[in-house]
Amino acid sequence: MKKDLLKLLDLTREDITKILDVADQMKYNQKHGLPHDCLKGKTLAMIFEKNSTRTRVSFEVGTYQMGGHALFLSGKESQIGRGEPIADTARVLSRYCDGIMIRTYGQDEVEELAKYATIPVINGLTDFAHPCQVLADLMTVREKMTRLEGLKLCFIGDGNNMANSLIVGGLKCGMDVSVACPEGYDPDPKVLDFAKTVTDAKFTLCRDPKEAVAGADVVITDVWASMGQEEEAQKRRLAFEGVYQVNAELMKLAHPGAMVQHCLPAHRGEEITAEVFEAHADEIFEEAENRLHAQKAVMSLLMGGN
Ligand code: CP
Ligand code: NVA
Repeated sequence: MKKDLLKLLDLTREDITKILDVADQMKYNQKHGLPHDCLKGKTLAMIFEKNSTRTRVSFEVGTYQMGGHALFLSGKESQIGRGEPIADTARVLSRYCDGIMIRTYGQDEVEELAKYATIPVINGLTDFAHPCQVLADLMTVREKMTRLEGLKLCFIGDGNNMANSLIVGGLKCGMDVSVACPEGYDPDPKVLDFAKTVTDAKFTLCRDPKEAVAGADVVITDVWASMGQEEEAQKRRLAFEGVYQVNAELMKLAHPGAMVQHCLPAHRGEEITAEVFEAHADEIFEEAENRLHAQKAVMSLLMGGN
């Protein structure tokens, strides 16, 4: 049966652990020049309806490193931008390619694509989820802290795609997760419902970043206004400014030696200070690098017969 990566809610803890294990192996293979060409002769179609630097480059480079070919389709320049139904795009691409990565707005569009495609579909970010990014985050935390279970992950900021995926991914891996966001900017209700079902890890949602960050091993933030929310930027600034920022003072309340992660791009002086960003730059850019390895793991498992 065809398998997709649409959102972390669809995965078990075992699935996530398997991806992270293969990702570590991919990283090792690449650093040691060991062959890992499991996508030889295969093609990944990459559909982008929003901007990207990391996702585009890491998927394209990752496919190439595994012996395959990636092609870029922008929403605007393809027939998707002229209204060709997702269901038809899915059936056409399935006849040429071996996998589809899509970055778009609605999660329903990705689910629709996967319903009609006969090849694996990978979510490269929607308004609801950013599963590839959070797999890279979990990989980076596990690399540095040697485990995930029992650690406390704290997210400060907008209850957006990153918050949604971090809550699900963190809890599924046995991490306690705390989120601080302003009223009106909560994570998705489906994610909050999922959190209520978790019994072996703790989830807290609060308004006060100081409360959320207490004793955290990993502190994560993201932009106040995501792609597609440009018109709300001013209103959002008023809701977040002065409170929802990862700064040195806030970091004092985290566990000593706590990591900081940011999916990037970062807005220094808004959700994170330049001081905290630069103090944790190695971890943040390792996280960016790990997109490559984590996605290679996903592609090898879904498309490579691994
Ligand atoms: N973090 C992330 O997904 O980056 P891009 O938007 O550059 O792909
Ligand atoms: N929440 C951000 C993540 C960017 C990688 C956005 O959706 O724009």
